[in-house]
This record gives sequence, C-alpha cells and structure tokens, in this order.
Amino acid sequence: MAKGFFISKTLGIVGILFAVAAICTVIALSVLYSEEKNKNVQGPENPTSQIPTMATTAPQAPTAPQAPTTLDPSIAWNRYRLPKSLIPDHYTVKLRPNLTKDDWGLYIFWGESTVRFLCKEQTDVIIIHSNKLNYTMKDGHHVSLKGLNDSQPPQIDRTELVIPTQYLVVHLKNKLVVGHYYEMESTFVGELADDLAGFYRSEYTEDGVNKVLATTQMQAADARKSFPCFDEPDMKATFDIALIHPSDHKAISNMPPKSSVKQGDNWTITQFQTTPRMSTYLLAYIVCQFEAVEKEENDKQIRIWARPKAIEAGHGQYALNVTGPILTFFANHYNTSYPLPKSDQIGLPDFNAGAMENWGLVTYRENSLLFDELSSSISNKERVVTVIAHELAHQWFGNLVTVKWWNDLWLNEGFASYVEYLGADFAEPSWNLKDLIVLNDVHRVMAVDALVSSHPLSTPEDEINTPAQISELFDSITYSKGASVLRMLSSFLTEDLFKTGLSSYLHAFSYNNTVYQDLWDHLQQAVDGQTAVKLPASVQNIMDRWILQMGFPVLKLDTTTGVLSQQHFLLDPTSNVTRPSQFNYLWIAPVSAVKSRGESYSGWLNGNQSAIFDQLKVTNDSDWILLNINMTGYYLVNYDDRNWKQLQNELQTNPASIPVINRAQIIHDGFNLARAKYVPTTLALENTLFLEKEVEYMPWQAALSSLSYFQLMFDRSEVYGPMKNYLKKLVTPLFDHFKNITNDWTGRPPTLTEQYNEINAISTACSNGVDECGDLASKLFNQWRNNPSNNPIHPNLRSTIYCNAIARGGEEEWEFAWNQFLNATLVTEADKLRSGLACSRDVWILHRYLSYTLDPTLIRKQDATSTLISICSNVIGQSLTWDFVRANWKKLFVDYGGGSFSFSNLIQGVTRRFSTEFELQQLEQFKQENMDIGFGSGTRALEQALEKTRANINWVNENKALVLEWFKEHSK
Ligand SMILES: *[C@@H]1O[C@H](CO)[C@@H](O)[C@H](O)[C@H]1NC(C)=O
Ligand SMILES: *[C@@H]1O[C@H](CO)[C@@H](O)[C@H](O)[C@H]1NC(C)=O
Ligand SMILES: *[C@@H]1O[C@H](CO)[C@@H](O)[C@H](O)[C@H]1NC(C)=O
Ligand SMILES: [Zn+2]
Repeated sequence: MAKGFFISKTLGIVGILFAVAAICTVIALSVLYSEEKNKNVQGPENPTSQIPTMATTAPQAPTAPQAPTTLDPSIAWNRYRLPKSLIPDHYTVKLRPNLTKDDWGLYIFWGESTVRFLCKEQTDVIIIHSNKLNYTMKDGHHVSLKGLNDSQPPQIDRTELVIPTQYLVVHLKNKLVVGHYYEMESTFVGELADDLAGFYRSEYTEDGVNKVLATTQMQAADARKSFPCFDEPDMKATFDIALIHPSDHKAISNMPPKSSVKQGDNWTITQFQTTPRMSTYLLAYIVCQFEAVEKEENDKQIRIWARPKAIEAGHGQYALNVTGPILTFFANHYNTSYPLPKSDQIGLPDFNAGAMENWGLVTYRENSLLFDELSSSISNKERVVTVIAHELAHQWFGNLVTVKWWNDLWLNEGFASYVEYLGADFAEPSWNLKDLIVLNDVHRVMAVDALVSSHPLSTPEDEINTPAQISELFDSITYSKGASVLRMLSSFLTEDLFKTGLSSYLHAFSYNNTVYQDLWDHLQQAVDGQTAVKLPASVQNIMDRWILQMGFPVLKLDTTTGVLSQQHFLLDPTSNVTRPSQFNYLWIAPVSAVKSRGESYSGWLNGNQSAIFDQLKVTNDSDWILLNINMTGYYLVNYDDRNWKQLQNELQTNPASIPVINRAQIIHDGFNLARAKYVPTTLALENTLFLEKEVEYMPWQAALSSLSYFQLMFDRSEVYGPMKNYLKKLVTPLFDHFKNITNDWTGRPPTLTEQYNEINAISTACSNGVDECGDLASKLFNQWRNNPSNNPIHPNLRSTIYCNAIARGGEEEWEFAWNQFLNATLVTEADKLRSGLACSRDVWILHRYLSYTLDPTLIRKQDATSTLISICSNVIGQSLTWDFVRANWKKLFVDYGGGSFSFSNLIQGVTRRFSTEFELQQLEQFKQENMDIGFGSGTRALEQALEKTRANINWVNENKALVLEWFKEHSK
C-alpha cells in the first residue's frame, strides 16, 4: 500500500504554514487568551509542517498479542492465526453487487464461492476466515463439502461463526484425510458498505446524478469480508473471479476477462481468467461506469481508469505515459518480466490509503493517479509518478514474491518506498528525484525513530496476530526507515550487486512466500560471487543491527585525533530506553567522507563504541572533513567544534565544495543534535547562515522544516519578532532570485526542485514580512475572484496564494473559495482549496468549517482528518480544533475509525504545538476520559504526544533566552 495521504510528499505545505503563522500571530494571541482565559496557555500555538523535523506519523509498535479473555487459546478457532492443516489451492468466486439500496436502506452483494483445499495434517475441523457475511443455510449448515476424485467427505456435524477471530468453523463427524483434496461451497450475502474495506461501495456525483460503484480494499485482512477464504498472505491460491453486473457497467479484476455473457436484458456475467498463485490481500474487483485510456507496451495492455469526465478531460494521460516506462524499468531492474497479461490502474473517489498494489488492478486515490496539465501542480505530478512507481514496484516485490506474514511488512513497504524513487527517476530523468528520498523519508523518519517510543523495524512473527496489530504496522518506521536502510544497503553493496541478489531472490521465490532473511541470503550469495565489494561482516550481521534494534546512532568524529565514536541518538536525552537490544545499541555503520583537499574515504565503524581512523584526521587547522556523503548512511554526524566552524566557513565561502544533499544534511543534523543537546542550539542556527546565498531546494527545505519547530515553540513569544527579521533577511535574496528568473512571477523555473524552492521563497517571504509578497497573493486572488472562470494563479503557487489571500481576506474571500471547492472537478484543486480555507483568521468561520468536517455531504470522510489537521495548523484554529476533537472523539472514532490509518495523524496534528504543563494535563485527561472508547490506530501516537509535550516543555525553558539573543544579533 502506498503511504497514507497525510504522510504524502505534499510540497510547499511547510511554507504555507509559515505564512499562516505570520499573518495570524497577532490575532491568535488575543483570540487564544480570550478563548482560554482560564487555561494556562503560554507556549506555542503555531503552524505545523507536512515535512516535520522532530516528529511525524507516530510509529506504532505492535501491542502484545491479546485474545479477548473469554477465548480459550488452546482451541484452534480461538487463535488469530490459521492452523496449517488445510492449504487452499483454488477458489471460484462469483459476486453480484447491488448498486441500489434495498428496502432497509442497505446496499448488499450476493456471493457464491467454492474453495478447493488440500488436507496436510489430520483434522476434523475446517477453519476459514469469514467476516460480516450471512450464509444461506443448506441442510442446516453454512457450507457444503465435497471430496475430490469421488472420495467421500466426512459428514458435517455443525457449523458456526466465531466473531472475535473472524472464522467460519465447520465441525466434522470424521477426520479429513491427509493428502486428499476437498471442495467447500457456500452462498452468502454481505453488505456493500461505504467503509472502504473488503468489497465496498464508493459514491460520486456526475452531472448532478449520484453514482454508486463497487470496489475492493483487501489489505490487510478484509478479503474475508467479501468471501470465505484462508486470509493470510502465505495461503496463496489461484482464483477464478466472476462478477454479475448491470450491462452498462464495466467489470474489472486482477486478470483480463475470459468471457462476458448477457443474462436477461440488463445483466452481464463477466468471467475473468484464472489468476496465478497469489495472496488474498492482493485480490481486486470493481463494478463501475468508468472509462479508460489505454495503450499497449511490450505486449501488455495498460489502462488508466477514472470517472468519464476525468478521462475525457485527459487527466489519465500522464499516468498512462509513465506507466509503460516504469514497468519496463522494473522488469529490467528485477531481471524478470511483468508477471501478468495486463496492467489496470484506477482512480477512485473514496479511498483510504494513497493507493493499493492489487496485482494487475492497482487502486488509487484520484489525486495519486490523475493529473491535469492545466490545473495540477508540479508536486501533484511528482506524487502521481512516485505513487505509480511504488505500486508497480510491488507487482514483483510483494505480489510475485510475498512476505510470509505481516511482521515482515517493513521489507515489502520499505523496499517499494525505496525503489519508487528509482522507477520515478527513470520516468522523469531530469527531476533528480532520487535525492529527495533524503528529505522525504530519511529525515522524516529519523524524527520518530529518535524517540524511545520507537520500535525495531522487524517484529517477531508471534507478536502480530489480530487485524488491529497488523494495521498498526503501517507506520512511518515500516515505510520510511525500511526505505532508508535498504538504500544504505544498496549503496554499500553497490546497486549492481544489490540487483544481482534481488533478481536471484525473485527467481527463487516467484509465486511463493519469504521471510526477510531470504533476501539477505541472496544478497550474500551475490557478495560471495565477487571480489570488488568487501564487507566487514555478513549482510545479515550488518543488517540485523539496523532492523532488530530501534533507532540509529550519531557518529562523532574528532578530526584532531581521528577518533570516530557512536552512540544511540535520542532526541530527548533525558529519556530512558527500556527496550533491551542484543546489540547494546551499537551499529555496524558504513562511513564515507570527503575532505577539504578533495580526497574521499570510505570504510566501516565495525560495531565498536569507537575506533581510530587515521585517514579521518586533519593535519592543518583550516582543513575540514565531511562525513556521510549524500546521507546514504542512516545516522547523524557530529564533529569537534573546530571542524564545525570550518564546515560553516566553507558553506559561506565555497558552498559548491559540499554536495547539495550534504548542505541539507548539515542543517538537519545540526538541529537534531541541538535538540538532543549534543551541540548548542546556536551552532545549529549558525549552520543556516549560508542560506543567504543559497538557491537550492534541499538545504532550504531542511532549514524550513527544522525552523518550523522553532515557530511552533516560539511564535507567541517575544522571540518571534527577531526570528521573523532573521528569516526575512535570509529569504529576501531568494525571493528576488526567483522573481528575476521567473520574469516577475510570470513564468516558472525549469526544474522540479527549482519550482519547489520558488514556492518556499514565496511562502517564507509572505510570512516573514516581505510586503511585496502579501500584495502579490492578494492581487492574484482578487484577479481570480473578478473572473472566476479563469484562474490566473499557476497551479504550483495556488496552495500558498490561496492560504495567504484567505488569511488576509474576510468572509467574501472565504465564501468564494468555498464555492470553488464545492464546484472543483479536480481533487487536487479541491485539496488546495480545502487546506487554504483553513487559513482564515475569523474564529466563527473556522468554527463553522470544523463542523463541516463531520458532515460527509460537505467534506468527504476520507478528508475529514486532514481538514481537521489543516485547521489546527492555523494558529487560531489550534485550540478550536483541540476542543472540537475532544468533544467529538466518540463520533470521530465510530464514524471515521473503521479501517482507517489516520488516527495517529490526527492526534499528532492536534498536539504538535503542546509545550505547557497545562496542555500536558489536558492531554492526560483526554486519555483518561476516552479509555473506554479507545484510540485505535492512534494509541501509539497518544503516548508519543505525551512524551513530546514533556520534551517541548523542557526545550522551551532551556532555549528561549539564548535563541532570542541569537536572532536579535543575526537579524541586524
Ligand atoms: C437490488 O436491490 C433492489 C432493492 O432491494 C431490488 O429492487 C433489485 O431487484 C436488486 N437488484 C438485483 C439485481 O437483485
Ligand atoms: C446479516 O444478518 C444480520 C443479523 O440478522 C443483519 O443485521 C444484517 O443486516 C445482515 N446483513 C446483510 C448484508 O444482509
Ligand atoms: C431492462 O432495462 C430497461 C430500461 O431500464 C427496462 O425497461 C426493462 O424492463 C429492463 N428489463 C428487465 C428484464 O429488467
Ligand atoms: Zn506499498
């Protein structure tokens, strides 16, 4: 599955929030003080960023296995994992969704399915997953049983549905015979609910008419909600899917249709070809009235499906153009041709995750697949190409070869999150996309992995059992740390060697399942087969340290002695690590360096606390050494003071000698080291001085992300004035640079990262008192209001301009934008308006907007939490949103909780600024009061929020005076 929407790579958001912050600060103070007179609000009320420095999506450690106490675990059907006695072989599934409500207001589907399975171990009970299905009883039983090859099956004694473990259990009068095949048949109905899970319905309007479609989301454990099945990833089988549907609807599934036969006047039964052996969670079937654009490439049919209007408008074209090259890239990369006869991809109006890699029929949120040259921004385009690359990467890694159980999800998702950059880079070679993994994944995940509440990438199999435990694994550790350590591995092995091991792994396990050690084995074989690359230990021994223990080290180099030492990096140095590690939190780390004289070095810190590296010593006081080139190592770097000074000096005088990724790395590492008290906060701030002459995106983005924490903590205090002055001083040359190269904002700069940094320039300038910028925003927005049919604002700049103009405007501006939102035909445009609407500084408008978030006719369910987070990121909306979330927790939880991954984002979003004792108390009270309702996927995030609030309180106390002085001095 692709990352959830909220951890998407939406660019420019940081800037927007900066902008809101600045504009709203003054008002915010008075509002907050009057609204919360009795509350001890003295700390930060401030914007947030989508690319946070200090914390991001909460990592969710699996909770201990928990069977409801009433279940006796010695009985097989009370355990969440299937017994291994029966192995499925083939399913025949026929489904008929009804896209009209029945008399009870329900949408339902009918189904008939047969599963053929092999008896591997003697048993007199058949245990198969089934959830929320109602069966037609035959002879008093839920199912009927046949023996194959005329063998006589045992008689059914009784059948029952076991609700907690989601099983259909068939008790037999006699035992099944080992080595024999049986067929079990059933007929059932299920609800075609709008819960985004299993076989579900999605609705949208077209020309004022409500349309219903039926689609699926099986991962992780919802195939059982569509038909009875052995619903675990290593229970691979082949499937014959058939859909009965209205003849004017399309039916699509993993495989191409085999036949399509009319039944009566208005119905058609579409039968699909047998799938290869595959996991249930990768099944997909859709009945809809969508259209497609298509082409053929390498003899494979490629189609992009969407609402007819979107297809007509050409919004599927970009996806169609990049899919062929990306499939070709991966076929080469894996040295394995695309495993299926066709590739369908479809953009759905209601969809929970970013996308889902169903084999041969990938489902997406519309905004992750559709692109409009006229009104989508460059970041929308980047998102489309990277999400497509991610999902297509899974068609081999994940789908053809699948991890045995969900505890190895990190390998599946981490891998796809790494190679998505390679695939996307192949499709857009001029964009330097591969560099961006450092900002989007490495920096992002270090922020959570540096907390004691983090968890190891790899989890023991027996700790993951329930569907809730499985869904908690879909966190940023799994995705982004997985990607970061695999990138490190590929980098020290070299990409060629990595590819050799990878293709041998894929060939060995095609249509089967693996554990992560299988990949290490094949990489090791590749290493053993050559001599150019030498490792200090086996692949397994090196990687175990990165995946079996949480966190990462900070490497400190003393350039006068050449001593390189390592320590587990903790953002909060006072926190206690209670989780033991068999490696004592020491790592085997690849070390790369460049020196001021241009020499480079690479070697290893081999699991020791420290070691002397003669090559990493300077001979001259003006020399410097830079470690972790291109940040391929998943660690932070600290130096002796002298070296830091020399690096700062180099950055200001000769920045080109430091690679651009490392200019970002120095800023990132500096702020994190300061946070954890390895270096003074002023050292981190001094690392930003060179930005006055910097025009590259990555260093700027690293700085803005880091400084957003300062804003969160300080923007209602006297620190904020001098801070704004400093930022204004830094950003003015950048603003002018872009004004020049865009010919007074009439054109766009050529490259992706330049376009991103143009957005940063505008939003940072607007929010830090560059008057020309605010006027630009209002001017452009008013031009649009005067001529609504012709939006003069370039799509890249829309988020920033909308936000600034709405913040500077009043009710009329808001209503105009709201109407544009309601009428927006393109989701990406609607999304920009939706977040811009949160920038208003009128309390009553924000209040009303909050209430809209719980009205699905105004704000789609899937967008509710991100809208709440946007409102909360507005300094005025912060307390309003926190009150709103507390008051409506139950409703949010019940109506919006099912199958959703976004609760952790919500909790993290609303608590991001907490840094006072009073807020800490409120949070603790919130936890107490809602224990009975629960926090679902946000459980972990809540614990983290408590931890982070405590850390913020300390940080503000310690840094406020110093930081104030520094900004005063450097803003002159
Ligand atoms: C779908 O449900 C509606 C309402 O109950 C019913 O009238 C209609 O016949 C059903 N369609 C089919 C194909 O059974
Ligand atoms: C299944 O049965 C339950 C209990 O009778 C009922 O509430 C539910 O609506 C039924 N579901 C469907 C899809 O018919
Ligand atoms: C098929 O649809 C047409 C047009 O909606 C309708 O008039 C006709 O009665 C339907 N036929 C059947 C057999 O339901
Ligand atoms: Zn994925």
